[in-house]
Amino acid sequence: MAFVAVSDLLRAADADGYAVGAFNLNNLEILQAIIAAAEAEQAPVIIQATQGGIKYGGLDYIAAMARVAAEEARVPVALNLDHGTSFEQAVRCIKAGFSAVMVDGSKLPFDENAALVKKVVDVAHAVGVSVEAELGKIGGTEDNITVSQREALMTDPEEAAEFVARSGADALAVSIGTAHGVYQGEPKLDFARLQEIARAVSIPLVLHGASGVPDGSIREAVRLGIRKINIDTEIRLAFAGSLRELLARDAGVYDPREILGTAREAMQKVVQEKIRLFGASGKARSAGGAGR
Ligand code: G3H
Ligand code: ZN
Repeated sequence: MAFVAVSDLLRAADADGYAVGAFNLNNLEILQAIIAAAEAEQAPVIIQATQGGIKYGGLDYIAAMARVAAEEARVPVALNLDHGTSFEQAVRCIKAGFSAVMVDGSKLPFDENAALVKKVVDVAHAVGVSVEAELGKIGGTEDNITVSQREALMTDPEEAAEFVARSGADALAVSIGTAHGVYQGEPKLDFARLQEIARAVSIPLVLHGASGVPDGSIREAVRLGIRKINIDTEIRLAFAGSLRELLARDAGVYDPREILGTAREAMQKVVQEKIRLFGASGKARSAGGAGR
């Protein structure tokens, strides 16, 4: 099947009360691990190209690999640009066949962020591509900021409603206490804020920085309206952990297929656990989705 529209997947998730996993790919083995996990769980899945991934693999390689994966997969697969940086990059990805793009204007002033997203929405919607935006800032765990500073960067529910109306975005990434990367302590999510945002906004909400967030918090976030959950760091950790373990255990191993194949299995396990946690197992058929 061709890529399905993210908006179709998230609509089905909303009707059924689960979240679709969105996993970042940087190379063949990560992509295969994600698809194998989705197939094993019979779940719809979103694969995402990040800025780093595009720089590392090249946009055309990533798009081509992802297209083959989607065509061969026995579950609905969408391809999304993650944290897109500009209108031009969004257009390049749309031309390359992506079924969704995120345009992250969260570092811009409110008006400029909304205007940038609207500009992308106008082009994207004309060709059936959906658009994710971000309001509030989701930083990195390495960003040295205090709790009160982080709170100031969180998504304001009233602003969110106005932002969605102005931008026409199809999904909204919210800042409610998560961060990208490896957490030092336990992340505390602001569920009251999430509840208010979900009340104020009718489009699906997206949770970034979900690696390392306790299972109970993820379940609560899904219960309160999160419909797409982004995972990258935990896949990287599984990859690196597997390589370290294998190379330390077996000094004679030199076949990349053996080394990377083992890592692929470790990553698949992580992705399957996340899909189950998000409640998306067994939803492939009902998620459907029109191809792009
Ligand atoms: O956009 C990507 C995700 O937000 C990655 O978050 O670093 O917690 O895996 P993570
Ligand atoms: Zn993110």
